Amino acid sequence: MVRKKVYVTRKVPEPGLSMLSAECDVTLNKKPEPPSRKEMLRNVAGRDGILCMLSDRIDSRMMDAAGPSLKVISSYSTGFEHIDVKEATARGIYVTSTSDILAEATADMTFALILACARNIVNGDRLVREGRWKVGWAPDLMLGYNVHDATLGIIGLGRIGSAVARRAKGFGMKILYYSRNRNPKLEQELGVTYAGLDDLLIRSDYVSIHASMNSASHHMIDREKLDKMKKTAFLINTSRGQVTNEADLARALKSEQIAGAGLDVFEKEPLPKTSPLAKMKNVVLLPHIGSATHQTRSKMSEVAAKNLLDVLDGKEPDPAFLVNPQVRSVRPLH
Ligand code: DGY
Repeated sequence: MVRKKVYVTRKVPEPGLSMLSAECDVTLNKKPEPPSRKEMLRNVAGRDGILCMLSDRIDSRMMDAAGPSLKVISSYSTGFEHIDVKEATARGIYVTSTSDILAEATADMTFALILACARNIVNGDRLVREGRWKVGWAPDLMLGYNVHDATLGIIGLGRIGSAVARRAKGFGMKILYYSRNRNPKLEQELGVTYAGLDDLLIRSDYVSIHASMNSASHHMIDREKLDKMKKTAFLINTSRGQVTNEADLARALKSEQIAGAGLDVFEKEPLPKTSPLAKMKNVVLLPHIGSATHQTRSKMSEVAAKNLLDVLDGKEPDPAFLVNPQVRSVRPLH
């Protein structure tokens, strides 16, 4: 039997690579950085499947370069805004993601950012390490804000937003949420209250963004929205940098229009050294590691490899991970 050809754009944790290598000829980009566009255009040629990351743009040109053998694009991510899904569907190419696998890990990280911002965890660590802690216990040293009993505003109540809400319950927080579609069943289940976006921004002590990236959410949080937030409030973003207008956010932080921000994602990644955010003390910055736990990344690897193999074996991928179900009518699998 002829082995299928697969291109993997980055070395993902096991077991994905072993699963793929057992059945297919795998071409792997072994470098820690993403392949250049040129390199990728060359390497996709004649492949049956591509296992890609959110940093790899897969558009019609890339699909042309792959040629008619390409049947599946399996993304090692929840987001799929880097793939031209419409184009893939029209060509009968299955697009899969790792969907909600990372929800709990990302919710953990969201809470880590809330706590780090509220309680000066990063600034406190620096003070101790750098020998600037001079007087031992002091009544007004590094005063922060309560997390317990505070109001949390969640923008986007999908799997990650819901997982954040469950954690917030344990902290005795009052929880508001805004979403394009109201979900009364989930409201009851999680004990959360729906609010319009402006209302949520006005009332929350912590605003946590969990919206997926699309044209409606692009720059959803801009200067006008930031102006609505309390001066004592914090903005947390573990979704996509493009949901906030980063220049407006930097201005709001500099002028202390809001108290601070905890950011795992940026408009441009890696965050340029020259970004004004990098110099601010009221910001906690992370390098897009919301889902980065051994267990989660390994599960993502297993799921991404299985999604790809299922399609190449002529089996329907798990509907929970299939991004373009319409493709079934273009290229049915048997
Ligand atoms: C995703 O999968 O979309 C995350 O942002 C990366 O972990």
